[in-house]
Amino acid sequence: MTSKRALVTGITGQDGSYLSEYLLENGYEVHGIIRRTSTFNTDRIDHIYEDPHNQTARLFLHYGDLTDGTTLRRILEEVQPVEIYNLGAQSHVRVSFDSPEYTVDAVGMGTLRLLEAIRDYQYRTGIQVRFYQAGSSEMFGKVVEVPQKETTPFYPRSPYACAKVYAHWQTINYRESYGLFACNGILFNHESPRRGQTFVTRKITHALARIVAGQQKKLYLGNLDAKRDWGYAKDYVKAMWLILQQDEPDDYVIATGETHSIREFLDIAFGYVNLDWQDYVKFDERYLRPAEVDLLIGDPAKARQKLGWEPSIDFRGLVHLMVEADLKALGLLPLARNLAIEDIATVRLAATAQ
Ligand code: NAP
Ligand code: GDD
Repeated sequence: MTSKRALVTGITGQDGSYLSEYLLENGYEVHGIIRRTSTFNTDRIDHIYEDPHNQTARLFLHYGDLTDGTTLRRILEEVQPVEIYNLGAQSHVRVSFDSPEYTVDAVGMGTLRLLEAIRDYQYRTGIQVRFYQAGSSEMFGKVVEVPQKETTPFYPRSPYACAKVYAHWQTINYRESYGLFACNGILFNHESPRRGQTFVTRKITHALARIVAGQQKKLYLGNLDAKRDWGYAKDYVKAMWLILQQDEPDDYVIATGETHSIREFLDIAFGYVNLDWQDYVKFDERYLRPAEVDLLIGDPAKARQKLGWEPSIDFRGLVHLMVEADLKALGLLPLARNLAIEDIATVRLAATAQ
């Protein structure tokens, strides 16, 4: 048994999978909380999972849910982690308008349940647990300051963002009231080939690959004018870990410091395969939100200075990385880049026939 033992909620998500990889690479034993589902949903972590009967296994999964406090307590007692990363969430902003009560229960109350369990566990055992809360730039919402930093006031604009603000302040409250080593990361949007397909970046790159493959003709999107500070998820999970390695618990903005619109994302993505996105993208109002967050741009100065954290990839590099991954998944790389769309289809057909 290693003393470096971490518990991760949301381990099946984009960030949970990258964080687990990172922790395993760094000698941790990793425990993740998964929800029971009728079909397997562990695709993102299957490559690092090993039969727990093997002596070499260092990744363990436990059934639980942030809406179920008793189970959270039981898992904490069983696992006895020294670091906890609370990444579990109903994380889709648009969906949070459809399911506000559930979203707030999982995101807001879920964090409180975990903090309460840690508080009691720490009091009883004397073991200090380090806690990371996955905060969001959505908390800045209708921004009152540009760029946004740790001291910028919040103005949340969705049930999801309101719940994240609640979780943020509870994390600070438990730090100040009970001396927990509890930290907030305020992470701006971060993407990757593992991003869920209903978030706009992956929706675009996934659809683009299907368009190139002749499997889809149109892509329906909502507001193309919103601007986001988009980074690479793999860089952002490293920041989570760094936040918990500091001498003192604190809160940090993690961002690239650049902002781009959905249109710019479309330009670069479709430009990669020499297509004009305006020929394919159509508007559908169902993807609009009752209240929109128009502009997000973070100031990562504190993270740079105190954590020594830097993003490793720029916006264009990120878009290309995601486009390439989706093209590759459909067997369209390296063919796609320099060919006209008709030629790609022909070459692919020939390749499949061989
Ligand atoms: P994600 O891909 O949507 O993953 C969310 C994870 O939470 C999944 O493992 C999901 O499990 C789990 N989950 C959902 N409801 C749960 C519940 N009631 N109890 C326990 N687990 C639950 O999200 P992500 O992009 O990795 O983001 C990770 C965290 O960072 C989230 O808290 C998100 O709100 C926050 N965040 C994300 C970004 C970003 O740009 N990605 C930026 C700022 C903050 P299933 O697989 O079973 O659904
Ligand atoms: N999802 C989606 N689908 N968004 C669209 C679409 C569409 O078809 N068309 C336009 N958009 C716009 C949204 O209106 C929003 O302004 C922007 O694209 C980004 O939407 P998402 O990719 O869904 O991300 P988000 O910014 O709302 O939320 C993500 O980032 C937050 C951090 O700022 C999520 O990962 C949150 O969990 C995270 O906290």
